[in-house]
Amino acid sequence: MNTPLIDKYGRHVTYLRVSVTDRCDFRCSYCMAENMVFLPKSEVLTLEELDQLCTAFINRGVRKLRLTGGEPLVRRGIMDLIKSLSRHLETKALDELTLTTNGSQLATHADDLARLGIRRLNVSLDSLDAQRFADITRRGRLDQVLDGLAAAKQAGIKIKINTVALRNFNEDEMSDLVAWCGREGFDLCLIETMPLGDIDGDRTDQYVPLTVVRERLERDYTLIPSTYVTPGPARYVTIAETGGRLGFITPMTHNFCEGCNRVRVTCTGTLYMCLGQEDHLDLRDILRSGDANALDAALDRAMRLKPKGHDFIIDRKGAKPAVARHMSMTGG
Ligand code: 5AD
Ligand code: SF4
Repeated sequence: MNTPLIDKYGRHVTYLRVSVTDRCDFRCSYCMAENMVFLPKSEVLTLEELDQLCTAFINRGVRKLRLTGGEPLVRRGIMDLIKSLSRHLETKALDELTLTTNGSQLATHADDLARLGIRRLNVSLDSLDAQRFADITRRGRLDQVLDGLAAAKQAGIKIKINTVALRNFNEDEMSDLVAWCGREGFDLCLIETMPLGDIDGDRTDQYVPLTVVRERLERDYTLIPSTYVTPGPARYVTIAETGGRLGFITPMTHNFCEGCNRVRVTCTGTLYMCLGQEDHLDLRDILRSGDANALDAALDRAMRLKPKGHDFIIDRKGAKPAVARHMSMTGG
């Protein structure tokens, strides 16, 4: 076993998120501009390179791997990559292989994903109203995602719904979402908007603090503080009435960096040590040089560079995003 990845603050990096494509079939208004320019294919790592990179991390003690995007399931050949990576589940080198997806392709892939050892999925869904869903995603169809969710549930995959709380958009739906997730047996995680990348419009108009959302939910439900703790940013409660789990991700109002166990790689092989900081390391050239020792040395260098934390803030109108890259580049 190679030496584990430990940063200069003593945090063990055991969780890798890999954005396998910057492309997506949706254009959620808080995430992307309508006319996104995507990366040329030559800049994007091949499936073989992605496999090699993930394996290098796993050899250094990464135990959990999440594939994100963009939308991971729109990448051609993605199921071949997942199949290949699933060997690390069989050898028990990995505890978990999972995806964050918008669900649009899930109806097709749910059975195969389950067969390859995917036990949980995070599915993004910001509204249960078909028209609102079409508006926010600019091109998504709610029924397609609901079919995908049904297929995943049928295949025995545990689902966590990720919902971005948006002012004047879905604030009034939160209780309905909690009830629906309760009925379906899905966990729910509410997310505050984060200032990542230029979008068309102003983020201060979209921002609603989750403290406000939570107060409103408390009128309809009994929120019991949960003992369920993960190293991630979410803080959980249990909904007494449904028995369901509800998480709050509040990067703007809380700091959750002390327990950070993760790093992220973009589809071009750039390693970001923190979602909210620019610190990064380009692994693509090292990867393409075929020198495994150089790659290992780069991972050690990355550990020395991992910043202590982030400082997101949305305040001034028209202020530049705190981080220029979109979520679809680094992955959620
Ligand atoms: N702020 C908060 N959440 C975002 N997501 C994408 N962009 C942003 C943003 N700027 C969400 C998606 C998905 C998850 C990966 O991140 O809706 O649920
Ligand atoms: Fe696509 Fe997810 Fe961004 Fe929506 S939030 S455009 S589904 S990557």
